[in-house]
Amino acid sequence: GLRKRQVSVLVVGLDNSGKTSLLNYLLPAENKSNDIVPTVGFNVEHFSCKGLSFTAFDMSGQSRYRTLWGNYYHTANGIIFVVDSSDKTRILVAREEFQQLLSHHDISSRNIPILIFANKMDIRDALSDVGVSSALGLDGIINKSWHICSSNALKGDGVPDGIEWLCSAIK
Ligand code: GTP
Ligand code: MG
Repeated sequence: GLRKRQVSVLVVGLDNSGKTSLLNYLLPAENKSNDIVPTVGFNVEHFSCKGLSFTAFDMSGQSRYRTLWGNYYHTANGIIFVVDSSDKTRILVAREEFQQLLSHHDISSRNIPILIFANKMDIRDALSDVGVSSALGLDGIINKSWHICSSNALKGDGVPDGIEWLCSAIK
């Protein structure tokens, strides 16, 4: 039939990295919000891309909610990990959370694509995609397809490129 295939993605990363802003860019105009606040727990959003109908779990990145992430790994067809490229003081915390995600059984046991956004590329002195890649340890990823994109979630720069990669990796 012509019904779009339903897929679900989990959007994770430290608080203030830009997860909700990035998703907001992808939402249809009527669902966009112009007042984005820190996420409590998580929110569920819907958008479409390349014949796929996405359900996105927009998780809170605050430390007290990070333990929730693992509950949703098994349901995800793809992972989006968002990094604030300008936050050099917390890049090691981001690395720690990313490596924990990789070693979780529901991730390590499955061939699930991982898209990383090196977000806030517009901020002066932000790390490049190469810098974020080495800070997170992406070269050490085995048996999984991954892709990193620099992005500006507020203007959308880099966002479609990343999502199109995810669509082709999920298909
Ligand atoms: P939690 O829900 O707390 O986990 O945070 P989050 O990752 O959802 O971040 P959110 O989208 O709420 O954005 C945090 C702040 O960063 C907001 O003030 C955004 O306007 C800002 N922001 C997000 N993306 C960008 C970006 O690409 N560039 C700049 N300059 N600011 C951004
Ligand atoms: Mg949020």
